[in-house]
Amino acid sequence: MTKTQRVLSGVQPTGALHLGNWLGAIRNWVELQQTHETFVCVVDLHAITVKHDPKVLSKNTLNTAALYIACGMDPHKSSIFIQSQISAHSELCWLLNCLTPLNWMERMIQFKEKSLKQGDNVSIGLLDYPVLMAADILLYDADLVPVGEDQKQHLELARDIAHQRINARFSLDGNPILKVPKPLILKDGAKVMSLSDGLNKMSKSDPNTNSRITLLDTPEVVSKKIKRAKTDSHIGLQFDNKNRPEANNLLTLYSILSGKDRESVAKECAEMGWGKFKPLLTEATISSLQPIQSKYVELMKDPTELEKILSKGRKEAEVVAESTLRRVKSALGIKLRN
Ligand code: TRP
Repeated sequence: MTKTQRVLSGVQPTGALHLGNWLGAIRNWVELQQTHETFVCVVDLHAITVKHDPKVLSKNTLNTAALYIACGMDPHKSSIFIQSQISAHSELCWLLNCLTPLNWMERMIQFKEKSLKQGDNVSIGLLDYPVLMAADILLYDADLVPVGEDQKQHLELARDIAHQRINARFSLDGNPILKVPKPLILKDGAKVMSLSDGLNKMSKSDPNTNSRITLLDTPEVVSKKIKRAKTDSHIGLQFDNKNRPEANNLLTLYSILSGKDRESVAKECAEMGWGKFKPLLTEATISSLQPIQSKYVELMKDPTELEKILSKGRKEAEVVAESTLRRVKSALGIKLRN
């Protein structure tokens, strides 16, 4: 089969990947790589937009790549690489910076939220985060970008930059210079919520580690975290009750992890109390994580194999990225070297 549509996505190596990263993002990539030309990267340059520890970053960069593979990303079917190893990302980011209005950036919701948390330590990189993300996407002429709900505004920005700031201004023959990508927001499970607050997304940066289950949590830790997960005082569990965000989140998790559809889960749990439900969710979680964890351990035992995979991915990605970069440079009148 020739794959005609291209997909690009990435996750930051800022900490242990959790159920939200897997179910909301990586799981979809694993499907997409069957039918689409798929590029996935570890976006380490995004990870330094807030304060970071160099040792932790380099360790997490490799761990994250290994987890992509452990979750089912197949190096023969997709290109798996580290963002910073392809200099075209930083270069295109600069070119786009010079064409992106500052007031587009100042209204980005995630920037506002993150900069509040940074106090008086907000870097220019944090403001520029969405332009670097636009560069990631636009370099690969991606048709589709699978992302969570919270990244929609960033996708819009990438589209506006490509369309209004590059194509509309610099195309001489009416042919677009950059492809305008579309977001692919998968509804079911696209947003896994925190275990301690059903109204907030499960997040790597939540100081409460009980709010998330990471892909490498041991069965004991999984069990402890689910025991502590926030519940409510209603009898019987149900999806989609606005007043019961925790019930909706934990049932959704159970449905995805057990492989049972929502209807049968709704039936199974309609009369159930939390005390009966939690062990079921625990069991389903532990058994879905088990194969990921054993594959991960196997990969980490053989660092040269992982290096090989990443170097193959880098080479594949670089060809595409370099060619797009040249196209943009020449459209902007930047002299290319021979
Ligand atoms: N901002 C994305 C997130 O936090 C990560 C990201 C960076 C990304 N570059 C990307 C996602 C390009 C998709 C495509 O989830």
